[in-house]
Amino acid sequence: MQKLVSQRKIFILADATVWRLWGKKLLQSLDAPRTPVILVPSGERYKRMATVEKIAQQLSAQGAERSSLLIAFGGGVTGDIGGFVASIFLRGIEYVHIPTTLLAQVDSSIGGKTGVNLTAGKNLVGTFCQPRMVLTDPLLLRTLPRRELRAGLFEALKCAVIGDPKLFELLIAKRSRILSGEPSALLPVIRACAALKSRVVSLDEKEGGLRRILNFGHTIGHALEAATRYRRFLHGEAIAWGMLAATQLAVQAGQLASSTGDRICSLIVSYGPVPSLGRIDLAAVCRHLSADKKVRRGVVHFVLPRRIGAVRIVSGISEKQVLSVLKNLLATDPFGRLARRQSRSRAGKQ
Ligand SMILES: NC(=O)c1ccc[n+]([C@@H]2O[C@H](COP(=O)([O-])OP(=O)(O)OC[C@H]3O[C@@H](n4cnc5c(N)ncnc54)[C@H](O)[C@@H]3O)[C@@H](O)[C@H]2O)c1
Ligand SMILES: [Zn+2]
Repeated sequence: MQKLVSQRKIFILADATVWRLWGKKLLQSLDAPRTPVILVPSGERYKRMATVEKIAQQLSAQGAERSSLLIAFGGGVTGDIGGFVASIFLRGIEYVHIPTTLLAQVDSSIGGKTGVNLTAGKNLVGTFCQPRMVLTDPLLLRTLPRRELRAGLFEALKCAVIGDPKLFELLIAKRSRILSGEPSALLPVIRACAALKSRVVSLDEKEGGLRRILNFGHTIGHALEAATRYRRFLHGEAIAWGMLAATQLAVQAGQLASSTGDRICSLIVSYGPVPSLGRIDLAAVCRHLSADKKVRRGVVHFVLPRRIGAVRIVSGISEKQVLSVLKNLLATDPFGRLARRQSRSRAGKQ
């Protein structure tokens, strides 16, 4: 990193909350106390074109050049905005991402997708632009709210199911240390996810085929997020429901042994709780699934597990099948059952 920052102008783009918690430390470790810092307010709603313009204006006013380096310091939102600005400012400058959420460490910082939202939808404007470096430190997660940590862990579970049986076992064996955010327990999880994602992305950078396996749980997950106007679930939480649904669809389609389906679902549920599906507007979920269909030339793709560590991309799953699985999840309420069990056992201990 020292080599990368020496003899060039560097600029830090930081999430305001992260900066308050970790800014001093970053400046110390860069050994560059006078580095200009541009702050972005925390939150998905700032991931939009107006923010990009403001940042570009500030970079320009502060004398950024083609050879300058932008360091994006924050979660997926900061990484997506920072990468996008870097890819278009002066037709492209280099950037480094220091991801500070688990989701960003295991997922969004790898793969080079950058971008912002439009009112018409998420991530509708963006570029593919690889960072020069991603610098990950699990110690940064010490201040991350527990709910955000758990949401990131669902993306790690996704990696395990789509391509890493060893990670699956690790997530079972070290569950409580991982859930309590112990850096030494999180490190091998982050490593395994980063390795898997970079392997997939290097074989298919622009999502022509293989990269779609990373969408396990996302077809239904995205529809759930949209149907609840992005208010009820964090992204990883919606993906948890999406993975439960996809696993049940795989069992129903006869492509996954039901005992393996049960193992996958138990692991997902054991990383809960997650807000319930209660009173979800199923018609809205279906509308969003078919909107997705329009975008993808009339076909909705589902990534369904075949076994732990292998998935298949399947089309031709009917709305009726999806609805039946969602109704079953609504009725059985697996995360609610877990929460009730946990509160009974806490009460028993008192
Ligand atoms: N580019 C990709 O390939 C890709 C992949 C997945 C998701 N994404 C994008 O990532 C975004 C979600 O990322 P996210 O979940 O990291 O959200 P985020 O960046 O909004 O961070 C979540 C919250 O955590 C706070 N925070 C971050 N680090 C912290 C820390 N160390 N301590 C305390 N608080 C901290 C932030 O201020 C924010 O409030 C979405 O916009 C999504 O579209 C991109
Ligand atoms: Zn995701």
